[in-house]
Amino acid sequence: MSAWRFSRYFLGSAPSITEARRFVAALLRGWPMVGDAELIVSELATNAIRHSASGRFGGRFLVSVQAHPDRLWLGVLDEGGPSSPRVFRPCPGGEGGRGLLVVATLALDWGVWGDEHGRTVWAVLDAALRGASS
Ligand SMILES: Nc1ncnc2c1ncn2[C@@H]1O[C@H](COP(=O)(O)OP(=O)(O)OP(=O)(O)O)[C@@H](O)[C@H]1O
Ligand SMILES: [Mg+2]
Repeated sequence: MSAWRFSRYFLGSAPSITEARRFVAALLRGWPMVGDAELIVSELATNAIRHSASGRFGGRFLVSVQAHPDRLWLGVLDEGGPSSPRVFRPCPGGEGGRGLLVVATLALDWGVWGDEHGRTVWAVLDAALRGASS
């Protein structure tokens, strides 16, 4: 299987979370990590809308998928803002603050590029690792 890449913009409002998940599911049909990829993109799209300027009226975010035979790179580029993505320590009974923890748990690697003008939160999934654990 050859490497490929795909990107698509979504409007920064709630219906785009499902649309972004479906976009990734359609691109990755048949891949072992499609479920993890859907979950990660849902969390990152939700964060872009809720925590960045992408969620303002007229805002948008960009979902990118880069596929290699056994590895997948997912990225969500938002429109920035004052706050930065950070993983909260699990707090028993606490509400919220779990999305990036889920991303960090599922991904082989993940990180953030950018600044207040726009940030990409990215994650790498490994087909071989997923195959071994599921
Ligand atoms: N794209 C982003 N831009 C700016 N800040 C972000 C972004 N994503 C996450 N953050 C910050 O990192 C924190 C942790 O994100 P996380 O997704 O783990 O939790 P949450 O969104 O607050 O709650 P939950 O995802 O459980 O509903 C957020 O509360 C927010 O302050
Ligand atoms: Mg979140």
